[in-house]
Amino acid sequence: NNSLRVGIAGLGTVGASLVRVLNEKSGLLISQCGRPITVTSVSARDKSRDRGVDISGFQWFDKAEELAVSADVDVYVELIGGDEGPARDSVLAALKAGKHVVTANKALLAKHGLELARAAEASGVVLNFEAAVAGGIPIVKTMRESISGNDTNRLYGIMNGTANYILTRMERDEISFEECLADAQRLGYAEADPTFDIEGNDTAHKLAILTSIAFGTEVAVDEIYLEGISNISLGDIQAARDLGYRIKLLGVAQKTDTGIEQRVHPTMVPLTSVIAQIDGVTNAVAVEADIVGSLLMSGPGAGGDATASAVMGDLADIAKSRPGHQQAPVFGRSVADLKTYQRAE
Ligand code: NDP
Ligand code: HSE
Repeated sequence: NNSLRVGIAGLGTVGASLVRVLNEKSGLLISQCGRPITVTSVSARDKSRDRGVDISGFQWFDKAEELAVSADVDVYVELIGGDEGPARDSVLAALKAGKHVVTANKALLAKHGLELARAAEASGVVLNFEAAVAGGIPIVKTMRESISGNDTNRLYGIMNGTANYILTRMERDEISFEECLADAQRLGYAEADPTFDIEGNDTAHKLAILTSIAFGTEVAVDEIYLEGISNISLGDIQAARDLGYRIKLLGVAQKTDTGIEQRVHPTMVPLTSVIAQIDGVTNAVAVEADIVGSLLMSGPGAGGDATASAVMGDLADIAKSRPGHQQAPVFGRSVADLKTYQRAE
């Protein structure tokens, strides 16, 4: 049996979608990867909860840390969330046990990315995290692999679906911030703690990950200037529109003469700009690099299926790889080659 055997911890919005799409797309994945991607094991908190997918054929683990090192697992998929506790412990255990890891957990990567990258390098395994930044948009692979050899000068964009959904619906439907947030939560876009979405922390996590890949530095989430959208009123949105602008929560990172500048804050963008047209849960990331020029990628930034698509792509990359073929290092270059972060003055 040459299956890639997958263990999934976390069967919420993303995990349940992943189980469903891997099943629905099994034939296509075999033809693309040359072998099946087979879920063998799952873990969540409540075994009896109805998740809308059939998990009866999988081995159940009460503890993610035990699933992560199970002999029946080649790749451990972490979809629990949180930067400490079972998410961190299980990912580290998997990497140290020589298992490949796929995660959508940007909080974990922003806080412990270097520790995890070192563990992955030491074991010679892959740590993939396409879903951690901008949901379904393949921005990590683009930056880590497709534009290799480029020097990036600037990147910016809308990296939080919940915040963009709230700003869009406040303007379009003239409903309250609270009502928009409740809808985003109902649709599965928001973080378990939605203050991360509305206060900009989630955008900062994603920005810090992209900054590390783009500029070849250590991940420096604590160096980010941070301001969220919780104080934005409908009046602010309407006043901006009357002046020819739209308010967007942007993450921006750029190289300057003195170092790197990283910031997350609500920004007035001209109504005529492309970024002003990015509506609802859609995200958009722009990259300016010396050889390729300017890139702009947009697509669904959150939600079960869009995020599961990115996880599925990461799994397919592992399934396609053959012994002796080394995949891209975690942050695009080996940890020893990452520079110390220098904040712009
Ligand atoms: P949910 O809150 O919907 O699901 C979390 C899952 O983790 C639940 O199934 C829960 O179990 C399970 N869980 C909690 N504690 C444990 C534990 N100790 N061991 C095993 N399982 C546990 O989260 P999401 O699916 O929305 O998000 C998962 C991850 O993906 C997070 O890191 C998030 O930031 C990231 N992400 C989410 C996106 C989205 O659109 N939702 C988009 C991109 C990334 P139970 O169901 O039994 O309570
Ligand atoms: N809560 C996040 C968002 C999920 O709304 O963008 C995707 O990372």
